[in-house]
Amino acid sequence: MSPRDTSVAGDWSIRGRAWRLTRPLARFLRSRKSETAPPWDVRANLASGPLPSDLSGRLAVVTGAAQGIGLGIARRMAAAGARVLAVDKNAEALTAAFPGGECIPIFADLSLDADQLADRLVRDHGPIELIVNNVGIETRHRFLDLEPEDFDLVFNTNLRGPWFFTRRLVQALLSVHRNGAIIFISSVHDTFIRLSPHYSASKAAVSMLARELAKELAPHGIRVNVISPGWIFRPKGPEDRPDPSLARWIVPLGQPGKPDDIARMAVVLLSDEWSGYMTGANVRVDGGQTLLTWST
Ligand SMILES: NC(=O)c1ccc[n+]([C@@H]2O[C@H](COP(=O)([O-])OP(=O)(O)OC[C@H]3O[C@@H](n4cnc5c(N)ncnc54)[C@H](O)[C@@H]3O)[C@@H](O)[C@H]2O)c1
Repeated sequence: MSPRDTSVAGDWSIRGRAWRLTRPLARFLRSRKSETAPPWDVRANLASGPLPSDLSGRLAVVTGAAQGIGLGIARRMAAAGARVLAVDKNAEALTAAFPGGECIPIFADLSLDADQLADRLVRDHGPIELIVNNVGIETRHRFLDLEPEDFDLVFNTNLRGPWFFTRRLVQALLSVHRNGAIIFISSVHDTFIRLSPHYSASKAAVSMLARELAKELAPHGIRVNVISPGWIFRPKGPEDRPDPSLARWIVPLGQPGKPDDIARMAVVLLSDEWSGYMTGANVRVDGGQTLLTWST
């Protein structure tokens, strides 16, 4: 019996009686939770809460949508009513990603000719009001090891591609005087080191680009925000689990995020109803990881 129990054991006041009545219920609920959710996933029971639904009928694009965070965002946006163009360079994964036709798959490499891709999307589908720049890659190099080819690959994919893709899409949107919302998926490593300087520097540039755009496009009714994820776990198979001791060590909430944690925030930030007064924000979705400055 805990000291707290002792203090109410002989207590027949309302407080003491309430404590004795609710304690078994609390125990029962705790045991049910551990039966239904895997131990690392304390949020599993929250997964079906209400979400904004005012994306209905809006045309949207999500890049890097065949897997991971991009796939999560594309699915959530489609569920919120948007007509989603799901862009990815991996044709096989893209085809498998939307078996029910929830999103329109677009096979393309964003690092090659972003202008041409944007023109094609507008020509085939119309001006795009909701833009999610999710594509991002990393090569594991330190500063002294990095060759110019890998530098160019990472910067072309993470910065140059999204930059000119967005520019062209926004030009098309402005030509029809429509408003919109844009999200860039950056990273907590836009601020905190990763020991992968080309990746961190590209993400810092993406976050700053978004702030510049937020100011420039605000008079046109286009909001621009950033989501900076921390560690987002993407299982490689049904049995794949994150290392629990690592998770406890580097994440205050004790577990890595899931793609859907980012997707939910994306839908909120795209919704004028839920975040119509937000632009230029950089929202960290990281389980508190960046509270610990050594968690790089
Ligand atoms: N996963 C994490 O822990 C994490 C943390 C912080 C930030 N991020 C950022 O989130 C974004 C998504 O990350 P993820 O982990 O889901 O990535 P992922 O590697 O799981 O998926 C990326 C998708 O983008 C596609 N892609 C890559 N290059 C492309 C190109 N040039 N053109 C078209 N498609 C391309 C890939 O085929 C893949 O389907 C990235 O910008 C990443 O930097 C991820």
